[in-house]
Amino acid sequence: MSSLLPSTLRAIRHRHPTFTSIHRHTRYTHSTSTAKHTAQPDPIEWLPLPRSVSPRKALMLLSLPIPPKHWPSHLEMASPLLASASAQLKGKGIAVNAIYDGIGTQPTFEKEESYEARVFWPDGHSRVYDKLDSRILSSDSLLSDLEYTSKSLDVMDSEGKGVREILVCTHGSRDCRCSDRGDPLVDALREEIVRRGVEEKVKVREIAHVGGHKYAANIILLPSLDMLSNLTLEHAPSIISHVLSPTPPTQSKLWAHWRGRYGLTEEEQAQVWERINPDNDKTAVRQGTPAGGIEREEVELKFKTFEGELKVVRAKVGSNLLDVGKENDLPSLEGVCGGNLECATCHLYLPSSPSSGSAPISEPTEEEDDMLGYALGYRDGESRLGCQIPVTKELGEWCKNGGVIGLPRF
Ligand code: FES
Repeated sequence: MSSLLPSTLRAIRHRHPTFTSIHRHTRYTHSTSTAKHTAQPDPIEWLPLPRSVSPRKALMLLSLPIPPKHWPSHLEMASPLLASASAQLKGKGIAVNAIYDGIGTQPTFEKEESYEARVFWPDGHSRVYDKLDSRILSSDSLLSDLEYTSKSLDVMDSEGKGVREILVCTHGSRDCRCSDRGDPLVDALREEIVRRGVEEKVKVREIAHVGGHKYAANIILLPSLDMLSNLTLEHAPSIISHVLSPTPPTQSKLWAHWRGRYGLTEEEQAQVWERINPDNDKTAVRQGTPAGGIEREEVELKFKTFEGELKVVRAKVGSNLLDVGKENDLPSLEGVCGGNLECATCHLYLPSSPSSGSAPISEPTEEEDDMLGYALGYRDGESRLGCQIPVTKELGEWCKNGGVIGLPRF
């Protein structure tokens, strides 16, 4: 890996004292890279990456004029346009997120929102809307544009045509790890770009919560839509080289940081990962996904929507309640982070029932408990995260005897 100039490194560490203390103790523990140990304790434990991001077919980015330091932890609560775009396009399989490209200093959202919006598909296809507002969001022309489906798993023009972008998650109000590790990386990338004189070829922007705070620093590359994680500022030179001229997996250690690719299904991401790292453990693609081909027993589960509608569905034993929600199109179960305990958008309620008592489920782990703090409409003793609740025969029995799983409003 090429390295940052020592003076650059010193200057960035000086500007980000939090990062200095973290970085000094950094140890790399990717299964695919050689471990480097220090004599110091490790405040960061690099976690194995899931190699699959939440499956969507494209990514829409709204350019906000508000710097990330003013972003609240849940942007959708402050931006009705972002909230409607996320809700409306979810059904079309489009993920929506916000970025800041350094233009604008507004501290708050305006009443009449209108932002530049760009949509990227993993084969390099893209669309730009100069001023996306609520009217354009529901226009037939935009909805028909978004019907596009990628023709390939990879960007076709991979040989350096067009501007490359690096989107770094610095959403510190959502989780301080994202700004503690993302901010210095932004600085290091920008300085490296200037040092190489490639300002016209590579741009660095900041992006809101991408899921997986524990893997920070997280970045998304455009136009490939690859997500890379577990990064530090010292990866800046390798990242710039990578986006300017993508290298085959065998020639770049950066591929060990590949976490997944937006716009692809889990199976397609598994294919990409197999090409990147043929020796990979294919079962690591998604936590909780059982091996294929095994016929599993089914049980009947009862859900009640926030509006009171009862939904009775068949569910495979061994899957989880988020999977069941998605398979049956149950409202309000989004699962943005793909079951990685990073979003709380799979929140639901498991209240005690007068006829069948408490739901037969284990206590939440500390991690689930932490994430439940972000659940909208949290109810003590009832709120749980669907991605963490396995479907069991006992849960089927509980529903049979009167237990009903509640769905939240959002
Ligand atoms: S899907 Fe994100 S926490 Fe459950």
